[in-house]
Amino acid sequence: MGRRILFIGPPGVGKGTQAKRLVDALGVPHVASGDMLREAVANDTELGREAVRYMEAGELVPDKLVIAMIERRLRKQDAYCGYVLDGFPRNVRQAEALTETLGDDAIDTVLVLEVTEEEIVERLLKRAAIEGRSDDDEPTIRHRLEIFRTETEPLIDYYTDKVQRVDGVGTIDQVFCRVVSGMIC
Ligand code: AP5
Ligand code: MG
Repeated sequence: MGRRILFIGPPGVGKGTQAKRLVDALGVPHVASGDMLREAVANDTELGREAVRYMEAGELVPDKLVIAMIERRLRKQDAYCGYVLDGFPRNVRQAEALTETLGDDAIDTVLVLEVTEEEIVERLLKRAAIEGRSDDDEPTIRHRLEIFRTETEPLIDYYTDKVQRVDGVGTIDQVFCRVVSGMIC
């Protein structure tokens, strides 16, 4: 079983939640582009200052910035034996850049998480009340969903031979069971 896993799915589908559990099981790092960008914003780095306006608008941060950030991260020693990617690649250009750097083996399995749009909006509005993420207001959530459909969904075709679809509705434990069986299939 390979340990180079990519989660694809719309905002709020549970990528981060499931990725955190999977990295514990596999002993590989969780490489989450959104978390890394939010950390850059919190630390007021040059990258954070460039990225923040795109993130707050629910737009993708320019490819050049994100690709450089992830390539730096994947060169670290803890990623030699695998990783769980969450949020990157986010479009076909980013996937091509990853393939160019690490080859076709950059990803073993692509787990595509699926839930309905209404469930997504409900989950994220609930999270907004608890965590206060600045892109979790309803218009920005709907815009992020639109960006997912236009920019990110085409990745499912790009990785077609590696894709396992996973129903993301149910408790976190139930979804995790499906994630693990999706990897074994
Ligand atoms: P990113 O941080 O990747 O956000 P996202 O894709 O919009 O997804 P979320 O993190 O909101 O949702 P998730 O699927 O991780 O769900 P979670 O597990 O948290 O990106 C943010 C921004 O950064 C982008 O808009 C863009 O600007 C920029 N960016 C990031 N990557 C980029 C890239 N590669 N290129 C360019 N720009 C990039 O769950 C959501 C909520 O639901 C939580 O509260 C959770 O507790 C709850 N939940 C989870 N599972 C369940 C369940 N089974 N039942 C009920 N509730 C659940
Ligand atoms: Mg996330």
